[in-house]
Amino acid sequence: MHKQVRVGVVGLGMGRLHVHYYSNAARAKVQAVCDQDIDLAGNVAKEFSVPQIFSDFDEFLDKAEIDAVSLVVPNYLHKPMTLACLERGLHVMCEKPMAMDAVEALEMREKVRKTGLKFMIHFNQRFRAEHQFFKDLIESGKLGEVYYASAGWRRMRGMPRFGGWFGQKKMSGGGPLIDLGVHMLDLSRWLMGSPKAVTVSASTYAHIGQSLARAEKKTFDVEDLASALIRFDNGSSLVLEVSWALNFEEREKVYLEFSGTKGGLSNVTYDYKDTTTCIFREENGAMVKTVPLKYPQTFETAQQHFVNCILNDVEPSADVNDGVEIMRILDAIYESARIGREVELRQVDLSAPLPVGPAVAAA
Ligand SMILES: NC(=O)c1ccc[n+]([C@@H]2O[C@H](COP(=O)([O-])OP(=O)(O)OC[C@H]3O[C@@H](n4cnc5c(N)ncnc54)[C@H](O)[C@@H]3O)[C@@H](O)[C@H]2O)c1
Repeated sequence: MHKQVRVGVVGLGMGRLHVHYYSNAARAKVQAVCDQDIDLAGNVAKEFSVPQIFSDFDEFLDKAEIDAVSLVVPNYLHKPMTLACLERGLHVMCEKPMAMDAVEALEMREKVRKTGLKFMIHFNQRFRAEHQFFKDLIESGKLGEVYYASAGWRRMRGMPRFGGWFGQKKMSGGGPLIDLGVHMLDLSRWLMGSPKAVTVSASTYAHIGQSLARAEKKTFDVEDLASALIRFDNGSSLVLEVSWALNFEEREKVYLEFSGTKGGLSNVTYDYKDTTTCIFREENGAMVKTVPLKYPQTFETAQQHFVNCILNDVEPSADVNDGVEIMRILDAIYESARIGREVELRQVDLSAPLPVGPAVAAA
């Protein structure tokens, strides 16, 4: 291994941001970019002075002089591309969601385990300064035992590239749940200390998305709203709510709320810019509200973290086991919504070699 990690980025929509963050990371070099849209690849390469450009993934695998890769392609390509990269001895940062479902995720985990290469999910929300602060706050016990949380990402109308791959199940695996909900689920579970889910009760709907799609003659066969109650093995629970289309609040709302035995935390953002954060505690019989004004600076982006993990041979935050757990919960949410009642998750030991099989216990 070089003292520097040479990275290739595949898929240059969101992938352009990966290139940007690697370009600013210490001991990282973006050596190659690949996108089937060669003009896009050329433009990104020019913007960030990237030496190698490819439009074909197989040629990229053959010729790119790299140690690691970021896969930032539509969800149905996460598994095949991850397996191909690991086969070539490349460390992998894979975009969220890890895969189309837990069966795929378990197959990917098996390959990670066999190759011993680093694998990280781009759960970039974990690296935001306020979320790092919340993590420290909860871990230091300031809220006591956190036993109840609610989290959501609600859009009144906000389907990404309507008519494209995001709204087609065979390419995306699902709608806002697997797109936005995956972030809120990972973030909440991580902040709660990564408990294991035991049961899920959920509903999904697609009324608005489907009627818009019919009117515009576009394909849309995923949900536009999902809500779930997830119970964890430590007795805590999480209520999750996500939408791309919902007749409710005009502004886009992203929220996290944690309630503990000693205090609570609420963080609500409207339209990506208007954030209100409060910490609540009982003091001398009074309920006291604290509003953080500035967070400690963080220095690690997800990309810098991935590079550091490769160089120092340590397991990344948002590793393959987190990816599998999140996919298992997402599967259970879809399954509960499908059958219209609570489902129990089949428990798997992620420290042991894993059989590949359905994540949800047979109904
Ligand atoms: N972590 C985040 O905050 C975040 C934000 C946006 C998207 N994402 C994830 O990133 C992934 C990509 O999403 P996006 O919004 O960039 O989608 P996108 O459609 O904008 O971009 C995907 C790119 O991949 C390219 N591509 C597709 N198939 C390819 C192939 N076989 N070989 C080479 N290039 C190929 C396309 O030409 C396109 O430029 C998804 O998994 C999505 O969930 C994550």
